[in-house]
Amino acid sequence: MSKLLRIGVLASGGGTNLQAIIDRCMDGTLAAEIAVVITNNPGAGALDRAGKAGIETLCINHRNFSQREDFDNSVVKALQDADVDLVVLAGFMRIITQTFIDAFPERVINIHPALLPAFPGLHVQPQAIDYGARFSGCTVHFVDGGVDTGPIIMQAVVPVLPDDSADTLAARILEQEHKTYPRAIQLIAEGRVRVDGRQVIIEPACPPALTSLVNPSIDG
Ligand code: GRF
Repeated sequence: MSKLLRIGVLASGGGTNLQAIIDRCMDGTLAAEIAVVITNNPGAGALDRAGKAGIETLCINHRNFSQREDFDNSVVKALQDADVDLVVLAGFMRIITQTFIDAFPERVINIHPALLPAFPGLHVQPQAIDYGARFSGCTVHFVDGGVDTGPIIMQAVVPVLPDDSADTLAARILEQEHKTYPRAIQLIAEGRVRVDGRQVIIEPACPPALTSLVNPSIDG
């Protein structure tokens, strides 16, 4: 068996994306192992999920650092100590610095609950509703120096329905996040993903239905 991709997951909240990644590692559809889960939030549900799965956890509380760079250096060191190949941001509520990105060039990915470049930043589900968007979704992308601006690996689309609240839309998007994130990581584990400027090239190419998931399908 070829070597598993070693990933470090950074999470600040409930950790449902972390759980989806754990589940896919366990059932063998994702050829990766989670070397460490790091949180900045001592109350993060992600810590319990990782603990239950027997994964090493670390809490590095950003409140204990006066400089953002010092916090980032500490997280980078922990990831390097864990010898990770890929850093996976899964609801990590800190903006990471260039020092962090430089330590893992084209090796940091994020999932965002909107169809980038629409609605970057925080609280994006109510924004999609207020704007009157007919579709929203999720985006897996490489992390660069901006906020949700890096090259896009994979997206999934969901409808915005007339009676949606921010919560119902977030739940519909989250369901797709849980499918999309492990699939994107699997493509990286297979060594098929490279960045060329703004484009992410996947070789050998995969069917468009994998990188651009439409739900429900346009054919009904
Ligand atoms: C997800 O909606 C993700 O897109 C965003 O933060 C949320 C994290 O949810 N970046 P969870 O902690 O994985 O449940």
